[in-house]
Amino acid sequence: MRIGVLCSGGDAPGMNACLRAVVRSAVCAGHQVVGVYRGYQGLLDEDFFVGADGQATMNARSVSDLSKLGGTILRSSRSEAFRAPHGQARAAAILRKHAIDALIPIGGDGTFRGAADLIKHWSGLIVGCPGTIDNDLVGTDYTIGFATAVQTGVEALDKLRDTAESHERMFLVEVMGRHSGYIALYTALAGGAEIACLPETPTDVAQIIGQLHALKERGKKSIMIVIAEGDEHGGAAVLERDLVAAGSPFSMRVVTLGHLQRGGSPAPADRILATTLGDFAVRSILQGRTGVMAGQIGGQLVLTPFEETFGKHKPVPAGLVALLESMAT
Ligand code: F6P
Repeated sequence: MRIGVLCSGGDAPGMNACLRAVVRSAVCAGHQVVGVYRGYQGLLDEDFFVGADGQATMNARSVSDLSKLGGTILRSSRSEAFRAPHGQARAAAILRKHAIDALIPIGGDGTFRGAADLIKHWSGLIVGCPGTIDNDLVGTDYTIGFATAVQTGVEALDKLRDTAESHERMFLVEVMGRHSGYIALYTALAGGAEIACLPETPTDVAQIIGQLHALKERGKKSIMIVIAEGDEHGGAAVLERDLVAAGSPFSMRVVTLGHLQRGGSPAPADRILATTLGDFAVRSILQGRTGVMAGQIGGQLVLTPFEETFGKHKPVPAGLVALLESMAT
C-alpha cells in the first residue's frame, strides 16, 4: 500500500513525532509512505517529499530524531483552493495519478472538514490524527500540541507573576483559542491565575471589578487574568479598555502570547500521544478503516467519524472552571 501523509492548518508541537510514527509503523509493516508538503495546497501543487537519497518515499531514516522537533518538517498551510469542490476533485485525481491508496492528514477541524469532503471524490482510505494546540476536537481527550501550548502559557505566567508582584500590577494574558477556552482554562489553572475569560462562559466586567476589589482587600498584590482570544467579550485589549473605564483597582499590562504557543519542542505528553495516534492511524488504515480520526479517550484508542470531530463544540470541563474559581478565592 502507498500511504500519503500531510500536515494541515495551524502547526502544533508533536506533528513531527506523529509523522515519525506514521512512517515507522507503515514501513515496518511493509508499506510505502509518500510525504506531502504544505498540506492540501501541497497536494494540489504535487509538492511531494524527496529524500536526500533521491527516493520519493519516506523511510525510517527520513524521520530520525524528529520527536523532539517543533513545527512540522512537511510544513503546513490553509488552502483556499482545496475548499472548493473542484479543488477536492483535482486533489483526488492527483492521488490517483500517484497511486496513493490511503491518506493520513494531521491537523485540526479544518483539516478534517477537508478530509470529509475529499472522501466524496476519492475511493482511497483516510484516517486523520488530531494535531492542533486548541484541543477543540470531539473524539479525543487531548489533541497533539495542546500539552506543549499549555506548558508555554504556564511558563509565561510564572515569569509575568514575578514582575506583577514587584510592581503590584495585574496582567491580562491573551492565549490562543478562537472558539475554545481549553488552552486558557488549563493555562490559568496550572499557572495559578485568579480569573480566566473563556468563550464558553460569560465575561461580566462589573463582576470582575467586584472580584478585583475583594482580592485587593484580602491583600492580593498581583493579579493574572488569562483570556482566550475567542472570548465572547473580545480579546485582552478590549477587556483592558473596559476594566480601566470601570475603575479597576489594579493598574494593568496586556501580553498576547499568540503564535509563541505553537512553537517549541513538544512536551513528553504530546510526543507520546503523537506516537500512539500515528501508529494507530496506520493500523486502522491497514484494517480498511476510513472517514475517521484516531483519538484516545480515557486511555482507550478510538476512531470517530470526521463529521463528529468538528460537528459539535467540545465543552471545557465544568469542574475545572469551578476549581479555578475556588482556588482564586
Ligand atoms: O487552530 C490553531 C490556531 O493556533 C488557533 O488557536 C488560532 O486562532 C489560529 O490557529 C491562528 O491561525 P493563523 O496561524 O492562521 O493565524
